[in-house]
Amino acid sequence: MDLTNFLLSVFFFFFASFPFPSTSSPPFFPPEALPTKSGYLPINATTGSAIYFAFYEAQTPISSISKTPLLIWLQGGPGCSSMVGNFFELGPWRVNFHKHKTEPISLIPNPASWNRIFGLLFLDNPIGTGFSIAATKHEIPTNQNSVSKHLFSAISSFIKLDPAFKNRPIYITGESYAGKYVPSIGYYILKKNPKLPFDKRVNLVGVAIGDGLTDPITQVATHGLNAFYSGLINERQKQEMEIAQMNAVELTKMGKWNEATNARNKVLDMLKNMTELATLYDYTRKSPYNSELVDELLSFKEVKRALGVKNESMVFEGCSDVVGEALKSDVMKSVRYKVDFLVNNSKVLLYQGQYDLRDGVVSTEAWVKKLKWSEIENYFQVDRKIWRVGDKLAGYVQKWKSLSNVVVLGAGHLLPNDQALNSQAMIEGWVLEKGVFGDDKAHEKKPSGISDFGVW
Ligand SMILES: *[C@@H]1O[C@H](CO)[C@@H](O)[C@H](O)[C@H]1NC(C)=O
Ligand SMILES: *[C@@H]1O[C@H](CO)[C@@H](O)[C@H](O)[C@H]1NC(C)=O
Ligand SMILES: *[C@@H]1O[C@H](CO)[C@@H](O)[C@H](O)[C@H]1NC(C)=O
Ligand SMILES: *[C@@H]1O[C@H](CO)[C@@H](O)[C@H](O)[C@H]1NC(C)=O
Repeated sequence: MDLTNFLLSVFFFFFASFPFPSTSSPPFFPPEALPTKSGYLPINATTGSAIYFAFYEAQTPISSISKTPLLIWLQGGPGCSSMVGNFFELGPWRVNFHKHKTEPISLIPNPASWNRIFGLLFLDNPIGTGFSIAATKHEIPTNQNSVSKHLFSAISSFIKLDPAFKNRPIYITGESYAGKYVPSIGYYILKKNPKLPFDKRVNLVGVAIGDGLTDPITQVATHGLNAFYSGLINERQKQEMEIAQMNAVELTKMGKWNEATNARNKVLDMLKNMTELATLYDYTRKSPYNSELVDELLSFKEVKRALGVKNESMVFEGCSDVVGEALKSDVMKSVRYKVDFLVNNSKVLLYQGQYDLRDGVVSTEAWVKKLKWSEIENYFQVDRKIWRVGDKLAGYVQKWKSLSNVVVLGAGHLLPNDQALNSQAMIEGWVLEKGVFGDDKAHEKKPSGISDFGVW
């Protein structure tokens, strides 16, 4: 039995790889919550720079393991750790984020994990982020091409860890600033594959971007309008914001990258000041996301050891300012042209939480309009599908051929935290091309009439 053997080997892998002395085992980290594999993927063997990974095999795969899709998750920032995604959003065990302040931190199983039927790999990217190691500051990437080179090397090393990984379909997913990383590594892989021998290629099938920053020059210009029509600011404030936005656009056009990044930050600050919202990540929230619980969880030596972190003295930061600073001049650079290429040569999923004011629906619609794709007119003409999970309305899906664009209701920027089950249904539906993500023809309206009843 394929599956039984597999589950057994996973089971033994836990105990073989993580001799976890029961005496020091903290109660809040159950052994079942351990990754299937975790550790380091070398980036520079000379200096020791390496990307930290945590991999969770599919819990109940629906095909043989060698054919089961692999999802790779990249956090945004720039400089935020994918452990935030893992323990706060879409991983199999999450921190008890609904807890009362006085309750101890613990891990609880997430029935909506993205590894229910797919393998799920979290990478701390770029080096210097989370548990990843940047031997020297100057090795930290300062542009998307260097980020992609490192990621390609890490993904290739990961695939080599197990012969069964080789032919599995790979989907790169991520959120927020990963709106840069995801198209960039996707593009890099598709351009590089034809130049490589067959056994060195990466079997990329699709890319997914959640609440992403992809085409900043277009996206930065949408905040005033969005806030005005959401009832958050008045027309005069909108004009004030538009002046600040135009400044960010002009600096971007001039290639004054650091100043342009500052100007974008000023736009977001201005909106925060005008509205006094708890967070721009979700305008309905009364307090910010408490993702710092992840920092607290990962401050324990026992937890670091369990996760395969080499250096237990390493101080975990949810987001690294050093990495953020290294990529400062990258922030306003667009990667939209990479999506033009990906939509031609792979599958693309864009999804946004309805309440996100940073990289949400309005800001995504604005750049999607600019895609250079021969099918874009057809994409705009198709019906927006009503998307239900069970019998509940979950959102809306605009899909044509390789492009799917989803609005997720009742969610902010950290969408898998807000709408866990719907985010799981979305990623599974998109990968498997089921339901609203199925064949474009199958969802055209049926002509109403007698034939629908089949009584005659
Ligand atoms: C590794 O780092 C060394 C020292 O900075 C550098 O000379 C070398 O080119 C790097 N190697 C790779 C593969 O990036
Ligand atoms: C927002 O408010 C803070 C605190 O009053 C102030 O320091 C900052 O300059 C303001 N930012 C903008 C862009 O208005
Ligand atoms: C382990 O991490 C600590 C804290 O970041 C650092 O000072 C130390 O040099 C690291 N040790 C090794 C062997 O890398
Ligand atoms: C996409 O494919 C079309 C048709 O083959 C081609 O004309 C176009 O140049 C391609 N676009 C990109 C960005 O590769």
